[in-house]
Amino acid sequence: FGLFTLDPGFRSTASCESKLTFIDGDKGVLQHRGYSIEELAEKSTYLEVCYLLDMGELPTQAQFDEFKHLIATHTMVHEQLLRFYSGYRRDAHPMALMVGVVGALSAFYHDSLNIRDPRHREITVHRLVAKIPTIAAAAYKYSKGQPFVYPNNKLSYSANFLTMMFDTPCDEYVPHPVVVRAMDRILILHADHEQNASTSTVRLAGSSLANPFSAVSAGISALWGPAHGGANEAVLRMLKEIGTADRIPEFIQRAKDPDDPFRLMGFGHRVYKNTDPRARVLKQSCDEVLEVVGAGEQEIFKIAMKLEEIALQDEYFIQRKLFPNVDFYSGIILSAIGIPTNMFTCIFAVARTIGWITQWKEMIEEPGQAIGRPRQLYTGYDIRPYKPISERG
Ligand code: CMC
Repeated sequence: FGLFTLDPGFRSTASCESKLTFIDGDKGVLQHRGYSIEELAEKSTYLEVCYLLDMGELPTQAQFDEFKHLIATHTMVHEQLLRFYSGYRRDAHPMALMVGVVGALSAFYHDSLNIRDPRHREITVHRLVAKIPTIAAAAYKYSKGQPFVYPNNKLSYSANFLTMMFDTPCDEYVPHPVVVRAMDRILILHADHEQNASTSTVRLAGSSLANPFSAVSAGISALWGPAHGGANEAVLRMLKEIGTADRIPEFIQRAKDPDDPFRLMGFGHRVYKNTDPRARVLKQSCDEVLEVVGAGEQEIFKIAMKLEEIALQDEYFIQRKLFPNVDFYSGIILSAIGIPTNMFTCIFAVARTIGWITQWKEMIEEPGQAIGRPRQLYTGYDIRPYKPISERG
């Protein structure tokens, strides 16, 4: 004892240095490579943010054209990879498929396993960013029993993703521009978030020099939980369970009860203790999307706004600095554009893939990079003699 400092939940331990993302939790600030998330969400596109996170600067037109071309080269997945899906139960959670299929990429792209070669690291970034929407959309199609839809490189990143989700051989799907913009914005807002649980998992798995596909697959596993990426799914289930505004106080009461494990989903954040800037942007997007689609979600949105209003006036939430986080609104938007609840976390995974893989790249390229190996404070027995089984009990 005394050699190490105990820091459960890593509340006060910085695990690495990084140039990708800056967060000031008290002021509600989030920046990627020095650009504010509000400005990026307003003026940029998801693919441009991918370039920014990967290369460190916003691209010139020529650089961006080349990047888009490189991504387009990799949007398809190997036909044999698509056969993996049929090994899963039809009712499997799509995140289970994502964990497996992304991990399986390492069996298909052997050159990407050469992590010491910067060219191969870059190809891995392109492969993952390009293929992850194809993989997620295929997980959805498999759960529906519908044929897979191949990527269409003439479409934007988000329009292509939506089309792979919703197009069928008998009914052409053309997404509304407002819906495409909202999807792109959701992807931008989830692109990276410094050392959250899934990103730290990717770094830790990758620190053993494991291949990047298995490291990202580990990240997807960590993201799945309701305290992290699974929260948007849980928010929508909670809002539907609340059902009518008059039941909100009952749920607030439950969230405050120390003997009830229930928490208000979409509220609170480990780092943001004032406001989550991503939630602010998404609240606006909610209005825009609900105007053009998702009349059914209007009621849910009203309940969400009322819940937010009541919670923000309640001493319990004020004292603990609990505010709506990004997931409070993303679920409503996704639901309004027809995305089923069990796909919400997959979309988070699609968005976060650029964050995971660029954080992985940053770590691998660090001089003196070492395997992540935390210590512990042992609280078990002192040394004691072994007793034969006949003498126990
Ligand atoms: N509802 C009710 N009480 C809460 C909530 C909530 N959503 N969140 C925290 N608290 C209470 C908690 O019970 C504790 O109270 P007390 O001090 O009386 O014991 C206090 O606030 C501090 O909570 P904590 O668990 O120590 O805080 P944390 O920083 O470890 O947890 C969190 C952060 C996000 C896991 C947590 O706020 C939570 O479970 N929120 C709901 C799930 C959620 O929305 N997750 C999405 C996070 S944003 C997306 C992402 O980045 O993944």
